[in-house]
Amino acid sequence: MSFPILKGKKGIIFGALNDKSIAWHVALAAKEAEADFVLTNAPVSIRMGKVKELAQACQAQLIPCDVTKLEDIQQLFEKSREILGGKIDFVLHAIGMSMNIRKSKSYPEVDYNFLQQTLDISAISLHKILQTAWEQDALSEGASIVALSYIAAQRTFPEYNDMADAKALLESIVRSFGYHYGKRNGVRINSVSQSPTHTTAGSGIEGFNQLFDYAEKISPIGNADIKSCADFCIMLFSDYTKKVTMQNLYHDGGFSSMGIVL
Ligand SMILES: NC(=O)c1ccc[n+]([C@@H]2O[C@H](COP(=O)([O-])OP(=O)(O)OC[C@H]3O[C@@H](n4cnc5c(N)ncnc54)[C@H](O)[C@@H]3O)[C@@H](O)[C@H]2O)c1
Repeated sequence: MSFPILKGKKGIIFGALNDKSIAWHVALAAKEAEADFVLTNAPVSIRMGKVKELAQACQAQLIPCDVTKLEDIQQLFEKSREILGGKIDFVLHAIGMSMNIRKSKSYPEVDYNFLQQTLDISAISLHKILQTAWEQDALSEGASIVALSYIAAQRTFPEYNDMADAKALLESIVRSFGYHYGKRNGVRINSVSQSPTHTTAGSGIEGFNQLFDYAEKISPIGNADIKSCADFCIMLFSDYTKKVTMQNLYHDGGFSSMGIVL
């Protein structure tokens, strides 16, 4: 789909690592929708991943930012406003990482230092981004923030491990900060609860292929693919969804509403 529905809008896109990343496809779709934006990722991810290629393709500036570091986030917002020439109209939070998953520590045996990292990177980072923007008054009237989530925030998917706790916290921050920002200047904050998707983070989950196939069978219109997810995010950034806020929106082909499949 390519309609210029983001023409004149300025954004920050977190989390494009490679061409499998959800954020990568959101960036391509945002470019098609004629937005101006900066790309950002952790310095190590910029070195190891392919986001420089994306920045070139989108003619976007790339600003390193480790979301656990407040000073990085502060600089990111300052530089982004300088580069884009004004306040920010949309932000994509597409960030997740669990050392417990990486080190195959199951939920009953999580390492608590790792758990702190999971929560900090995958959920509290959204609060840090929003608080930084709040202090700098960096978001325009009616700006739109989208964070990616997963249904393990509501239902139990054992292999999703401590990321389930992170997503529950992330969705709570969406609601809590959504209130304050809504009152202040009509900023919308929503999470998109996406189907299993073959990305670097997704594929790190044990049994991911089974989870993907299971969801595909349960969902009446099948798993939501990555490009549809990008389109949905673009719609949420646009003025067509001005009054949608503090929601967790399932983008999952109907999976979340199913009981049994005959
Ligand atoms: N893939 C799925 O099945 C699926 C389903 C639902 C939701 N999600 C969510 O989508 C979002 C994007 O993940 P993805 O699946 O595209 O995988 P991905 O691996 O491509 O993206 C995860 C990103 O998080 C970034 N990141 C990690 N630590 C960081 C830090 N300290 N500072 C800044 N960035 C950091 C990584 O560099 C990477 O770009 C995540 O929130 C994920 O939980 C994914």
